[in-house]
Amino acid sequence: MGNDTFRAFLQACQQRAATALEQTLPPAAEPAARLKQAMRYSALNGGKRVRATLVYAASQAVSGSMPDTLDKLAAAVELVHAYSLVHDDLPAMDDDALRRGQPTCHIAFGEAAAILAGDALQTLAFECLAAADLPAETRCRLVLLLALASGAAGMVAGQDMDLAAENRHIALADLESLHRHKTGALIRASVQLGAIAAGASAQQLAALECYASAIGLAFQVQDDILDIEGSTEELGKQQGADLALNKSTYPGLLGLDNARALAQSLCDDAIAALAIFDSHADPLRELARYIIARTS
Ligand code: IPE
Ligand code: IPE
Ligand code: MG
Ligand code: MG
Ligand code: MG
Repeated sequence: MGNDTFRAFLQACQQRAATALEQTLPPAAEPAARLKQAMRYSALNGGKRVRATLVYAASQAVSGSMPDTLDKLAAAVELVHAYSLVHDDLPAMDDDALRRGQPTCHIAFGEAAAILAGDALQTLAFECLAAADLPAETRCRLVLLLALASGAAGMVAGQDMDLAAENRHIALADLESLHRHKTGALIRASVQLGAIAAGASAQQLAALECYASAIGLAFQVQDDILDIEGSTEELGKQQGADLALNKSTYPGLLGLDNARALAQSLCDDAIAALAIFDSHADPLRELARYIIARTS
């Protein structure tokens, strides 16, 4: 798959995710119009839609197709992600003023509205999965999977570990665990959702689990690198935010060159894990490369 074909694939997935989100989010009408406006502001303001794209690409790898059923799944992972960003940016957490090139939700709507918008985005994600056009047993499996990945066994635990690791030196193994929870878990869930909906076998799921685990960690390593060498304009968020808060990061612990080498080796591992798949898995292969090459 050439670069142009991959870019077109990514754009098509981004477009499908944007449409699915638009159709899923409530209109900004009374009652609670302001809450709904804050939800729409935070979920419809672009973003790379990597997690949604992983849902589509995992299904493509397994079945060679990306049916409409996936749209609700793609919306669900992006809704959890959007909520996590709204809360991540709050003053009590990373205290950031810029997200996706716009004022963060709490700057635009106030802190209380941002907390509530995050809450409602999260529950909407599960509503979305529960209402997907799939057999009840599959839906139940997907809800469980996303809940485990998002909560105290996954992303929220990672966020807690991240805050606890501010102004401290932590061991490399602890940093890896932190990153695997705060970012890796939702990325793994995105791949699993698409694969399970497409009817993946146990062998395919195991291979995809290795793939997703590697890109999940690589994604956050690259995020840490971009905090140092990215530009605020291109990132759409404040460059240097980790340094300002004295966060524990990969470049901080290993140095930039070693962090870059780690990202590359995780990308190689991810692609190697896809050996059992044919060219239908090329979008997943290209996504692994994209995740460590991206500049935003
Ligand atoms: C940023 O995620 C937060 C992390 C988990 C590292 P993304 O880089 O995917 O943010 P958007 O969705 O493209 O804005
Ligand atoms: C965010 O990690 C992870 C989640 C939102 C779960 P970061 O705090 O590094 O993300 P950015 O850099 O603010 O996007
Ligand atoms: Mg954070
Ligand atoms: Mg942050
Ligand atoms: Mg970051």
